[in-house]
Amino acid sequence: MPQILAIESSCDETAAAVCRDGIILSNIIATQKIHEQYGGVVPELASRAHLQAIVPVVDQALKEANVNLQEIDAFAFTQSPGLIGALLVGTEFAKSLSLACNKPLIAVHHMQAHVLANLIQSPNRKNSIPTFPFLCLTVSGGHTQIVLCEDYLKMKIIGQTLDDAAGEAFDKSAKILGLPYPGGPLIDTYAKEGNPGKYKFPEPKIDGLNFSFSGLKTAILYFVRDEKIKNENFVEENMADICASVQSRIVSILLNKLKKAVDETGITNICIAGGVSANSGLRLAFEKMGIKEGWKTFIPAFEYCTDNAAMIAITGYHKYLAGIFEDLSVVPSARAVF
Ligand code: KG4
Ligand code: ZN
Repeated sequence: MPQILAIESSCDETAAAVCRDGIILSNIIATQKIHEQYGGVVPELASRAHLQAIVPVVDQALKEANVNLQEIDAFAFTQSPGLIGALLVGTEFAKSLSLACNKPLIAVHHMQAHVLANLIQSPNRKNSIPTFPFLCLTVSGGHTQIVLCEDYLKMKIIGQTLDDAAGEAFDKSAKILGLPYPGGPLIDTYAKEGNPGKYKFPEPKIDGLNFSFSGLKTAILYFVRDEKIKNENFVEENMADICASVQSRIVSILLNKLKKAVDETGITNICIAGGVSANSGLRLAFEKMGIKEGWKTFIPAFEYCTDNAAMIAITGYHKYLAGIFEDLSVVPSARAVF
């Protein structure tokens, strides 16, 4: 019954989790509020905030799991991708714990971990999880990928964005509408009250299984600019309908490509993951499409969609079982493919 302590510090969440035999015992997340006033994540401030939060966050994760440091069998951490200064904090902290406790060190790829969040089981193991092979649409603030997952650690990216990520499409659209960062969750909230068919935004024609969101961003920018010339309060007066229309287009771009991937691979176990998979419009449309197309669909619990350390712990657990460890010379990497 291996017990893993996992640390996530790739962006603006300082997180720690403990898992025992693949079951999550604790999942602590400290979200850095400091970035809100700057309209985006400031890397230097993120590193400093990680340094302040990491000891109390790890401490709380151990306490909630009712496990002490000496009972941990391995330390897992996010090695890549992410902000390098932010990754360094979690990496060096995990290395120090590994050295002090004389227990192995496990490096985790953040995007693989988002995919494997779909394998997290509830303590009574009652929720259904996908069997291999499965496809995962991973949609976050920095990435948009369709991943073919053949085994716990055997994954291949079969489609990805050529420019902005889906999360960026949400956040940049929100910015154009004058909403604060991160705008994705706010668009989601406004969209619930709006008419998704009110305004038509273009769907880009991109070959294969790749995505593009930069054209949509420009279309929204010009649309808002032109409407504001006619009525300067246009955005405020139509916020719900604009948000619903923007969200509906981002969701249709994502799901049309996902359907294409299913048609091409013949795989019908389908997952979504990453921060944007917390979006209620995407979750609903994904499940509807799954019923219509005869897929088995899986969505991680809400708390495992946005950045968290439980997903690092579950990935670390499978690396532990496979005997994949690092020595103390391991360094983080801002960009790394898997
Ligand atoms: O996975 P994540 O927490 O961090 C990265 O690895 O990037 O994803 C963050 C992204 C942000 O762009 C945020 O706006 C978006 O996920 N997001 C949402 C929602 N919740 C988070 N986008 C739309 N609707 C949401 N409910
Ligand atoms: Zn993430």
